Amino acid sequence: MFCKVNGIGLNGMNAYPVAVEAELSRGIERFDVVGMADVAVKEARERVKAAFRSSGIKFPAASVVINLAPADVKKAGSHHDLAMAAAILSATGAVVDDISDAAFLGELSLGGEVRGVNGVLPMTILARKSGIRRIFVPEENAYEASVAEGIEVYGVSSLAGLLGHLDGSRRIEKMPKYVPKEENYSSALDFCDVRGQSFAKAALEVAACGGHNIIMIGPPGSGKSMLAKRIPSILPKMTFEESVETTTVYSIAGMLDKSSPLITARPFRSPHHTVSTAGLAGGGTIPRPGEISLAHNGVLFLDELAEFLRPTLEVLRQPLEDQVVTISRVSGTVTYPCEIMLVAAMNPCPCGYYGHPTKKCVCSQRQVSQYLSKVSGPLLDRFDIHVEVSPVEYDSLSSSEKEEPSASIRERVQRAREIQNERFRGTPVTCNARITSDMLHDVCRLTSSANELLRDVFDRLGLTARAYDKILKVARTVADMEGSADIDRPHVLKAVRYRTLDRKFWANE
Ligand SMILES: Nc1ncnc2c1ncn2[C@@H]1O[C@H](COP(=O)(O)OP(=O)(O)OP(=O)(O)O)[C@@H](O)[C@H]1O
Ligand SMILES: [Mg+2]
Repeated sequence: MFCKVNGIGLNGMNAYPVAVEAELSRGIERFDVVGMADVAVKEARERVKAAFRSSGIKFPAASVVINLAPADVKKAGSHHDLAMAAAILSATGAVVDDISDAAFLGELSLGGEVRGVNGVLPMTILARKSGIRRIFVPEENAYEASVAEGIEVYGVSSLAGLLGHLDGSRRIEKMPKYVPKEENYSSALDFCDVRGQSFAKAALEVAACGGHNIIMIGPPGSGKSMLAKRIPSILPKMTFEESVETTTVYSIAGMLDKSSPLITARPFRSPHHTVSTAGLAGGGTIPRPGEISLAHNGVLFLDELAEFLRPTLEVLRQPLEDQVVTISRVSGTVTYPCEIMLVAAMNPCPCGYYGHPTKKCVCSQRQVSQYLSKVSGPLLDRFDIHVEVSPVEYDSLSSSEKEEPSASIRERVQRAREIQNERFRGTPVTCNARITSDMLHDVCRLTSSANELLRDVFDRLGLTARAYDKILKVARTVADMEGSADIDRPHVLKAVRYRTLDRKFWANE
């Protein structure tokens, strides 16, 4: 007896259809799994057999062969168990339903329960795209799967429960469709808590408007960490597509909050400076997305940037440029997205007071250079905006004047993003920071006086081509914030002011 059911495979972010075929024939009792299965899939034999036994379901006394097709793609993970069990049940004639429009995924325990697995959302979305109308997933992942539109979801808690549904003796209730909740960003951290610092705040607003990477440099206690932690409160709302993408990364990493299966607030990741390369960029024996991908569509904050190991930081360079991380493994490569806003903070020297208006720095010039050289020129180049954060003045700290709350800054950010959404409609570009070089000159038109100014600055400051591009992009954002179609002199001037740090601190490099 032969039977085929729909399964789904997962490689990095990409799910793909897998046909799980079961062939039962008379002969010596045996159970084999073929079709490029890894160890976890091969072990499914033991789990499936034991689950049948524990659930009081007779395992066929026959030669059972499971084939996972296509046979030329390596199948990994334990989530094929349920499809294999369904195929065997079907081949024994226990299933009355037509299950050709259904897919199955889940891991079986020896006791016959269905265990939760990672990556259910991308696999469910793939199922729908391949024309499947119903999907059976572990009960604990059913809420997550219900986020996918256009497909019926059934949460299965045990093998016996699945059989009950398929033989019609006891139906499982369909999971209600997920109703998107209002964004769940908790506004515990608000910009109104930060006194003064108007220059840094304005720079962060520009960064949020255009999705620009930003680095803050300044003495201890000047409020750099405090400012950075408040960035999520002014970022534009996530679109549904962005939410699904970010949720997918968390689903694969097994880090999804079971009670709120769709991530609707932009992530803010702040790894400690002792983070490993794999922790930051992704990897490991069982490849997992790193911090840079967990920050997808949100913020990656590297506090105390100079304390990170330099080789760890260097791995960020390519992903920052490409917005994807590629991890090589013996069995092939996996790719995770990482469209992020990189925010970094650091002191200018070991003692922290280099360039301080009043306190004296006790470091030698060599120590300062050494400290700064921990951040390479090319990495520094990835930041569109550099700000020097000075210590907050007494008058600002003691003033009773109210600071602007995040909500009103965010309204401006949202407006500037809408202009960009309109501009980039139909292209893969999402914000000014990601303008590609071929569209740069079209999108960033300068008035003649702005052009003159930039030429002058370029020659006088000896800017690199990359710095020139960055200034144009930031100036584009500044112009958008003012609702101006062309980029004028004041916009360029503001953008240039955000490029001063590399000359002040890195000039001797
Ligand atoms: N502008 C400000 N308004 C209100 N409080 C501030 C401000 N700046 C700093 N503080 C206070 O000082 C504390 C230290 O700030 P923060 O940790 O952000 O400094 P930092 O620049 O990150 O310092 P370090 O370089 O040592 O990491 C904050 O928790 C806050 O209580
Ligand atoms: Mg700090």
